[in-house]
Amino acid sequence: MLPEETFAGQVAVITGGGTGIGFGIAEMLGRHGARVVLAGRNPEHVHPAAERLQAEGISAIGVPTDVRQPDQVDQLMQQAQAQFGGLHLLVNAAAGNFTVDADRLSVNGFNAVVASVLHGTFYCTRAAGLAMMAAGHGGSIVSLVASYAWMGGPKNLHSAVAKAGVVTLTRTLAVEWAAKGIRVNAVCPGPTDTEGARSGLWPDDASAARLLAKIPRGRFGTVEEVANAAGYLLSPYADFITGEVLVIDGGEWLGKGLSS
Ligand code: HXC
Repeated sequence: MLPEETFAGQVAVITGGGTGIGFGIAEMLGRHGARVVLAGRNPEHVHPAAERLQAEGISAIGVPTDVRQPDQVDQLMQQAQAQFGGLHLLVNAAAGNFTVDADRLSVNGFNAVVASVLHGTFYCTRAAGLAMMAAGHGGSIVSLVASYAWMGGPKNLHSAVAKAGVVTLTRTLAVEWAAKGIRVNAVCPGPTDTEGARSGLWPDDASAARLLAKIPRGRFGTVEEVANAAGYLLSPYADFITGEVLVIDGGEWLGKGLSS
C-alpha cells in the first residue's frame, strides 16, 4: 500500500480514464493525492467518471479526447496544465480492439486499432513528455500493454503489433528520457475483471471457465491489482525503475509457454 500522500501536488492525465482499468488507476491516483484528468473519446464516459471522483473529494475533470488526433492530444495536455497548474504523470490506457482472423482483418480495421493503441500512445507520450521537459521537473509515464506483444496474438494481429510497438517505445524512451528525469514503464494485465472484459472476453460461464483454466493462479485479476502496480511504477518508490514491463496476470503467459 502506498502512503496516502504519495501523489500530493501532482497532476495526472489518464487516457481511457472513463472506464475499466483506466478509471481504476485514476481513482487510485486521486485517492493518493493526485489531481486527475480523465481523457476518453466518449463524453458520456469521461464526464460522469470525473463526477464520481469529485464525489469522493478528488480533484478531477473529464476531457473528451480522441487519442488518434494529435491536435486533440496537444489540447488535452494544455488543458490539464491550465486547469491544475502542471503535468507530472501520464497513463496511456486508451485502446481499441476486437477479435478477428487475420485473413478477415480489413485495412481500416488494422489502421483503427494501430492508430488508437500505438499512434495514440506516441502522441500522448510525446505531448506529455515535452510538457514535463519544458517545466523542468520530470515525470513518470505508464502504458498498458498485453503479453501478446511478445507472445504473438492469434485473432489479435492488429492489437498485438500495436502493443509490441508500445513496449519498444517504452524501452526506447526510458533510455532517451532518463537524464531528463522522466521514467517510462508499462504494466501488462492478464484477464482482468472489468465490465468490458466480462461482456467481451467471457460473456458466459463456459467461456469464463475456459479462460480460467489457462491462468495458473486460477482466477481473474482485479482492477485494484493493476492500479496498485501502475501506482507503484508511477511513484517515487520506483525511482530507479525505468523501461520495465510489469506483468500482472497470475502466471498466464508463462503458463502458455509451458503448455503442450
Ligand atoms: C472485424 C471490425 C470489428 C470487428 C470494427 N471493425 N470492429 N472488423 N470485426 N468486431 C473494423 C470495421 O469494419 C472498420 O473497417 C474498421 O474496423 C473501423 O471500424 P469503425 O467502427 O468504423 O471505427 P471506430 O469507431 O474508430 O472503431 C475503433 C475500434 C472500436 C477499435 C474498431 O472497437 C473501438 O473504438 N473500441 C474501443 C473500445 C475497446 O475496444 N476497448 C477494448 C480495449 S482492450 P472497414 O473495413 O469495415 O471499414 C485492449 C486490450 C485487450 O485493447 C487485451 C486482452 C488480453
